[in-house]
Amino acid sequence: MNILVIGSGAREHALIKALYRSPQSTSLFCYGTAINPGIRQLTKHYCAGDITDCAAVVSTAKLWNIELAIIGPEAPLEKGMADALWQAGIPTIGPQKKLAQIETSKEFARDLMKKHHIAGLPRYQKFATLNQVEEFLTELGEGNYVIKANGLMGGKGVKVAGEHLHSMTAALNFCKEILDKQQTILIEEKLIGQEFSLMCFADGKKLISMPLVQDHKRAYNGDRGPNTGGMGSYSDTNHSLPFLTAADVQEALEINNAVFHALAAEYDAPYIGILYGSFIATKKGIYVIEFNARFGDPEALNVLSILESDFVALCQAMVKGELHTSQVKFSPKATVCKYTVPEGYPDNPRKNFAVDFSQVGCQDHLYLSSVNQIDQQIMAEGSRTAAYVGIADSIDAAEKRAEVEISSIAGPLFHREDIGTQQLIQQRIDHMQRIRAS
Ligand code: GLY
Repeated sequence: MNILVIGSGAREHALIKALYRSPQSTSLFCYGTAINPGIRQLTKHYCAGDITDCAAVVSTAKLWNIELAIIGPEAPLEKGMADALWQAGIPTIGPQKKLAQIETSKEFARDLMKKHHIAGLPRYQKFATLNQVEEFLTELGEGNYVIKANGLMGGKGVKVAGEHLHSMTAALNFCKEILDKQQTILIEEKLIGQEFSLMCFADGKKLISMPLVQDHKRAYNGDRGPNTGGMGSYSDTNHSLPFLTAADVQEALEINNAVFHALAAEYDAPYIGILYGSFIATKKGIYVIEFNARFGDPEALNVLSILESDFVALCQAMVKGELHTSQVKFSPKATVCKYTVPEGYPDNPRKNFAVDFSQVGCQDHLYLSSVNQIDQQIMAEGSRTAAYVGIADSIDAAEKRAEVEISSIAGPLFHREDIGTQQLIQQRIDHMQRIRAS
């Protein structure tokens, strides 16, 4: 079976590794923005180009006789890549463009939740001009709002009062910036609590959940510094998270299911792919931060590293609408994922320097990201360089494994030592207890 993965970061490296582990006979192919040497090793053919160019990707897929495609990032989904591949007769993991609006338009996602009375919706208002913006910000109160661009802005479209915005002037300037980029504005109440990710496989008829994961957005230890694409993440042996109750998990799953059914009610098209709810546990219960229509990065690395099931069979069942819970098994292990990134990342990263991975003991759980191979040398390009997933019988033991391996990667790089440590996990638990008790 010829399988195509679109995208070339660590998430797609994890997808390729999971496919590669299948006992079925497969040939793997990649269409990415750059040549990732980790992916190239495992693929029969690899093309680097514009992954949002539907015509180019489809014609290459046809040339390679692709029988199944998996779309990694959100940008191709927004351009209708899934629609184009299905039209060409290629079953595809990743929702069609109209369904992917659940991620690509924040207003669409909020309006859908409102229309279908789905729980977990914060107060929000949409604006196409600056009219009434100041009034709504004042109504929400100083330090109590989040300003979002409606569409995709490469991770730069959200600013939070008190964290990135410290005055009304700064808030209004950010709104102007969004409008200048021809986007509309979504303003929401700020939520206080602990964030977590719940990703589900969707076969068009139902959702099957994956282990919950907590990501770490800030660049430096102690959740300090600028926001990043995600510096690392962890999951627990019971596939919940230490600061959540069973009722919290159930609430989040019900919200994902409600959104899945709302999309089905709005559009006569099956949602096939990943539905990823980004949630926050608050004093008042579980709220939705946003939805994504793809695997999370780094969350995909945690869950795919402990997927026991045959991922190829799982994907085949997904595109046929025949996925069964018995085909989705994760081992009862804890995982800790740590990214190593160039010095200066994310604002002013060093680029084009050699990275040495030779001291990494177990390469099975090493995932390459923003790197390139020149002759025999792997060069870092400037974004997140590589991630390592430690797997063990406790988060603490998984953290120690990840820490040893990620530290062994040589180059002018840094990572967060605190992700997955007992100290940070306890802080999360204590924070949640304080919030619930307040
Ligand atoms: N972990 C955040 C994301 O994938 O969007």
